[in-house]
Amino acid sequence: MVNRFMRAVATAPANIALIKYWGKKDARLRLPANNSISINLSDITTTTAVEFLNELSDDMISIDNETVTGDEKTRISAHLDRIRRMAGIHLRAKVESKNNFPKGTGLASSASGFAALSLAASTSAGLTLSEKELSILARLGSGSACRSIPSGIVEWKAGTSDNSSYAYSLFPANYWNIRDVIAIVGDELKKVSSTEGHAAVKSSPLYKVRIREMPQKLRQIKAAIRNRDFSEFGEICEAEALNMHAVMMTSKPALIYWMPTTLRVMHQIIDWRSSGLESYFTIDAGPNVHALCVADDALKLAGRLSLIEGVRKVIVNLPTDGATLVEGTDLMDY
Ligand code: DP6
Repeated sequence: MVNRFMRAVATAPANIALIKYWGKKDARLRLPANNSISINLSDITTTTAVEFLNELSDDMISIDNETVTGDEKTRISAHLDRIRRMAGIHLRAKVESKNNFPKGTGLASSASGFAALSLAASTSAGLTLSEKELSILARLGSGSACRSIPSGIVEWKAGTSDNSSYAYSLFPANYWNIRDVIAIVGDELKKVSSTEGHAAVKSSPLYKVRIREMPQKLRQIKAAIRNRDFSEFGEICEAEALNMHAVMMTSKPALIYWMPTTLRVMHQIIDWRSSGLESYFTIDAGPNVHALCVADDALKLAGRLSLIEGVRKVIVNLPTDGATLVEGTDLMDY
């Protein structure tokens, strides 16, 4: 039995989308235009402690030891309001959140952040939510966060209403021994947030075609994962990333998230592939490149990526479990 208003600590992974969420059919509810599929990443995580306290007159939020203010605070407090409404409480919360990845890498993840916040805050408020309920709650904070709740390789069902739009585990974390090796390129904050980018999507003439092809793409990637067919899987992932970025680049205003190093890394991955090191790239709304490979190739790939001019850091991830409560852990350990 969970005590009401205890301090709760949760940790959640970021995720990399293989089939991507770009465009919403309902912005307020964050209902996506299409289903998406992602992998939870072992080495990019957020850990968040939440406590609802009598003595507070306002939410007190810190991320990586810095007090959060302005729009970021408004978005997080709005999420806490959802949880307060569900629990029937009015207390303000103290929220301390820590990322295990360095600042200024363009990795800052609303997915791991809202997933960890949803689990920690709902637990602290005395709620015991199912995985589906938690995924729905996290989605309202940031769409991709709903995919950081279940484990392993995850599908977010677009749904048609608040209750029918949530993520579930397609395959457990240990289903397939693959890796996601991130080449960190960016050190600037995104100029255009993904929330703004989603809103511009319909201005791209390519968007309709993208949506039309989605059902077939989703069927194909699920079959490739089921069969552990890495070449087929990688080709679908790479083509899908290029497809989403083509939509971004042809939106008004045009969104160009790639930097010169992004392109250098993409070309290298293609070259290495033709000479026997098989990996495929995917890229979310930023300049960092995720190189997908089988486990045996991860160290070789990481070594080569780290030597490319402009690559600042390389992080090797394996598929991992979704958000979990951390028992008896001091947040300072993170
Ligand atoms: C390109 O989940 O960050 O990473 O719901 O507005 O917070 P909001 O958007 P967000 O969008 C993620 C976009 C993406 C693709 C993906 O993760 O599927």
